[in-house]
Parts: sequence; structure tokens; C-alpha cells
Amino acid sequence: MTSDLLRNQPDRPLVAASVLGADFADLAADCAAALDAGCDLLHLDVMDGHFVPNLTMGPSLCRSLRRALPDTVLDVHLMVTDPVQFVEPFAKAGADHVTVHLEANGAPEDLAAAAHEAGMTAGLAISPPTPVERILPHLGSFDLILVMSVNPGFAGQAFIPEVLDKSRTIAPRLRDDQRLQIDGGVGARTVAACRDAGHDVLVAASAIFGTDDYSAAVANLRGMPSGVAEGAP
Ligand code: DX5
Ligand code: ZN
Repeated sequence: MTSDLLRNQPDRPLVAASVLGADFADLAADCAAALDAGCDLLHLDVMDGHFVPNLTMGPSLCRSLRRALPDTVLDVHLMVTDPVQFVEPFAKAGADHVTVHLEANGAPEDLAAAAHEAGMTAGLAISPPTPVERILPHLGSFDLILVMSVNPGFAGQAFIPEVLDKSRTIAPRLRDDQRLQIDGGVGARTVAACRDAGHDVLVAASAIFGTDDYSAAVANLRGMPSGVAEGAP
């Protein structure tokens, strides 16, 4: 699927609900509730037990979500050692976007080309220990750059504030049709600094699914007081 959501500069930060925090036994309903509460997209964390020490979801789960939520933008975050083998299966399963890691196997430009050929937008992620200089030569090939603010593997970890130095280096180098995403520990206490550093796509699992008021959670992430309607004077 192709979506322009990530190619157009948003007039307010986009909020991506990380499915990893949802109730897997009631997945479609929990994701629908997050979307109804104002989330712009769903973020699917794919882990292979090798690149990161956890196992999560594969293309069939993506296909089921696509079927249940036909109009939703599905953003797939591949935390796997060999991302190239999963690009096409996720495209066929209905993903709109795929992000691969700079630290994984494969040349970033080849992975971007594979994603584009499969009809998706492409993202490149950088993990906390990796120096920002390593991603700079690749920025131009991708539609989205993801700065990881936790070491990938699990939801519910503490935000690493030092990664925002990378964000501040990357943000001014991006074109209007490129997004800057942040993922990991994004919530009430950390989100303002993320927005100030130039992030316009905010991923959150715990800060949405770990609350009992998804609408208030999304409003807080966007920096809008909850209960105030959008466009209200
Ligand atoms: C971590 C994943 C994140 C994670 C975010 O490896 O990439 O998307 O689900 O979870 P929170 O928002 O709870 O830190
Ligand atoms: Zn993620």
C-alpha cells in the first residue's frame, strides 16, 4: 500500500501507537480505540530474537490488522538482522511503510530501493550507541529517519535523553518530505523535548496503551491540553 501521510509535512506532530503495548488478545479493538482517540498510524515492532533479545510479530499479524483496519497507515519497524528478506512479505501483508536499522545487515540504499519498489515508504533507524555520523551519508535515500531513544527490544524502557543531540544534528538536514521519528520512552515527561528537537512522528506504546484514557494520552503527546477540541480558539 502507498500512503502520503509520511511524505507530507504535518501541521501537528503525528502520533504512532506502538502495537507492542496493545492487548494482543483483543488486538484489533485495542488498536481501533487508539485510532479513534486520535492516533495517526499504527507502529508494528518486528523482532527476530537475534538483532534484539525479544520475539514479537510477523507479516501475518500485519495482514490481519490490515484486514481489520483497512484505512490505517501501518508503519513496520524491523528490528531484525536481515531486513531485506522481510521487506516484500510485509508489503504483501499490507504495510505502508518499513523502517530498517542502520546496524542490521545490508546496504541502506539497497533496502530503501527494495521498500520503494515494493510500494512502501522507507525509514532508517539509528540505535542509541551508534554515532550520528554513521547515518548522515544515508539521509537522502529515506522518507523517514528514526532516532531510537531506548535500546531496541522492549516497550516500557526509560528514555535516553542524550539521543536528542543526534536529532538536533539530523533535523536541519532533512527535506520537507522527510519525517523525523522518535521511538522509546516517549511520554508526558519526555515528549516536549522530542518535539523541540525536531521530531514530527512520535511513537508510543506505554504512554498510550498503558493509560485508561487514550484521547488524553494522544493530546498530551501532541502538546495539546486534553479536552480542548482541535481548532478550538
Ligand atoms: C522498542 C520499540 C518501541 C516500543 C516503544 O524496541 O521499538 O516501539 O514499543 O515502547 P514505549 O513507548 O513503551 O517505550
Ligand atoms: Zn518501534
